[in-house]
Formats: sequence, C-alpha cells, structure tokens
Amino acid sequence: WHVAVLMGGWSAERPVSLMSGEGVAKALESRGHRVTRIDMDRDVAQRLADTKPDVVFNALHGVPGEDGTVQGMMDLMGIKYTHSGLATSVIAIDKQLTKQALVPHGIPMPGGQVVDSATLYEGDPIPRPYVVKPVNEGSSVGVAIVTYDSNFGNPIGRDVEGPWQHFGELLAEPYIRGRELTTAVLGDEALLVTELRPKSGFYDFDAKYTDGMTEHVCPADVPDAIADACRDIALRAHRLLGCKGTSRSDFRWDDNLGVEGLFLLEVNTQPGMTALSLVPEQAAKMGIDYAELVERIVEEAL
Ligand code: DAL
Ligand code: MG
Repeated sequence: WHVAVLMGGWSAERPVSLMSGEGVAKALESRGHRVTRIDMDRDVAQRLADTKPDVVFNALHGVPGEDGTVQGMMDLMGIKYTHSGLATSVIAIDKQLTKQALVPHGIPMPGGQVVDSATLYEGDPIPRPYVVKPVNEGSSVGVAIVTYDSNFGNPIGRDVEGPWQHFGELLAEPYIRGRELTTAVLGDEALLVTELRPKSGFYDFDAKYTDGMTEHVCPADVPDAIADACRDIALRAHRLLGCKGTSRSDFRWDDNLGVEGLFLLEVNTQPGMTALSLVPEQAAKMGIDYAELVERIVEEAL
C-alpha cells in the first residue's frame, strides 16, 4: 500500500500526534508499505492531492484532525482514511454532544453543565469537588480539578488563573472519586480494561506521556462485573456513535459504589498511538503487535 500518515497539525496535542504518526509510519515501513509523512499545515489538501495515497492513516489528535473538519475535506476529495468519519467525529470530539448522544441510550455519564470561564470566577457552577475541562481538547489539556480548598471558581480567587483560561467552551462535571479505567475497541471487539495509577496527582498530560509517571495495570485488577461493564459500554458507545477502526472509552469508577459508580467520561475517536499509549498496549496483551494493529486499522479503511 501507499499510505500517507497525517500527523502534527496545530492543536495543543501536536507533539503527541507527531509521536503517534512516527510510530505508525515506522510500523508500516517495517511491513514493506510505502509511506509518505505529512505534517499537516494549511496546504494539506494540496499535499494530499499531490501525494495520491491509497489511503490516509489519520494520526492527528485534537482540532481540526479529530473534529470532522479534516474528515470532511477527505470525503470531498474522495480519499479513503482510517478511523471515524465526519459525523461521528463532530459528536465525539465534543464531550457535551457525546453525552447528549449517549445518555438517552442508557450509557452512564456524569452530569454537569457547559460554562464559560467568566462564570467560574463568579462562583461554583456545581457543588465541589468538580472538574473543569475544555469540551473539545484531549490528553487532559486544560483540565482542572476544583477541590474544597482550591481557589478556582471562588470570588476570593479571582486572580487565580485556571489552565482552562485559554479555551473556549468549558464543561464542569462532578468529580468522581476512585479509579481511572479505559477500554479500547478494535474493529467490532472491545479489548481489555486498563487501570491508570498515576504516581502523583491525576492522569494529566505529564502523567500520560512521561515514562514511569503512571502505572498501567492491564488487565485491571477490578471485579469481573466492572470489567464486563467497561467492555460492554465501550462497545455500545463505539456502535452508537458509529466509530470506525478503533476508539478508546475512558471511565471513572467510584469503587465504593459497585457498578453504579462506573461512569463513561468520553470516547476518543483518534486514540494515541505513542509508545505509552493504551490501545497499542491492550492490543499487545491480546497478541496483536503494534505493526499488526496499524495494518488492521488501515485494512478497515481500504
Ligand atoms: N487524546 C489522546 C491522544 C488520546 O486519547 O489518546
Ligand atoms: Mg480524550
């Protein structure tokens, strides 16, 4: 195959995408495929038209590579590409739209509300503790946990900047104490459950991409009922949203509450493919090595 690996771009997750893309490109080359690496800029349509690949491996994360924009461009150009299509991407990139799509189908997700940062300085939009996050970023960029003693959202803390300050639409959600779990879907099968145990703080950007900062327990040491629920929810969410290729569903589980304490936070349609990423790790535990994983994702798109 001739595969154009689309990576980089200008979202906050550009460095992550470059790592994902390089890993994918090397894997495809190791299998004898012809690869063209494209670091996306505003000329991307022209570059793709010149490259004429059989298929694009979309290794972009964030906007505009994960929100349907690039997908729509490739639809117009008649170019085949990996991962989810336009409509799925538009919904899944937006954590609030995702809730509106999935909660009516019985998928458990935390409540909460969309807020703007000015509102947060007037007072707490929902009772503490809560999480503030941009509706459409990834890799925990801009996420803040507002605890009982932090200044975020409190009039006395007006001079305190949240990491969310620089983003548009924000979501305030109740903070779910307990554990961080994730499940990948590949093709039409849920893989395993991984528990992320950051060595300090929460599973933020540094904990995600710095080797040694987070322990990955895969398969997670959780009751079968919880593992089964994660896999069932991940697969149902993947199907309800119409995801293609692969997706990864992220959860919080309050282990004081049993299965009632399990909440889906979001579905990632362009999950990371870096050395520390979770879809490749789960696939490897299932006997699918990285290069085979990449080939399977490409095959579904051809
Ligand atoms: N947003 C990152 C890349 C992930 O979901 O893995
Ligand atoms: Mg995400």
